[in-house]
Amino acid sequence: MDQLLDLLLFLLPIYIANSSPVVLGGGTPLDLGMNFFDGKRLFGEGKTIRGFIGGVLAGTLAGGLCALVYQSPFFMTEPTQFFAGFMLSVGTLCGDAFGSFIKRRLGVGSGRQFLLDTILFLLVALAFVFPFASISLFDPLDLLFFILLTLILHPLMNILANRAGLKRVPW
Ligand code: CTP
Ligand code: MG
Repeated sequence: MDQLLDLLLFLLPIYIANSSPVVLGGGTPLDLGMNFFDGKRLFGEGKTIRGFIGGVLAGTLAGGLCALVYQSPFFMTEPTQFFAGFMLSVGTLCGDAFGSFIKRRLGVGSGRQFLLDTILFLLVALAFVFPFASISLFDPLDLLFFILLTLILHPLMNILANRAGLKRVPW
């Protein structure tokens, strides 16, 4: 049970960073309206500067609050854990933007459904935090749990956000 809590608290900054831009975002797009070499938008209107910064701040705050009250076995020290919350959040938003970049290159429209939307942010967040995590605790079973839980939770959260009127589409 304790172990499950460790895993869920590890994921908290990622999930907060990924979901908060829906409410915090808007305004100037991250790509400043610029196109890539293919003449299509770099990221598109769905990725905004405010969403990116808001997501990083919200995720870092969530991770920071966790670090204050609880020592994660994934990180050696409290400062590392705090910093990890930041890295997980930046990784999440970079993964999210990278997903948009791929979507635009493939000609998938802004806001359209895309398989990688569900999981890419998690994989990039894990890659970003990897250098700071205690490797002994980062075992394949944990990674499998992260992936499976995210594959279930991400679509579920989007359906709820749509029902709550926060998101235009249920994905
Ligand atoms: N959002 C934002 N800034 C971000 C990420 C998200 O402002 N960096 C906001 C936008 O209002 C966006 C909404 O959250 O429309 C939902 O995010 P998401 O589903 O990730 O983006 P999409 O609109 O689907 O755009 P894309 O097709 O580029 O993924
Ligand atoms: Mg989307």
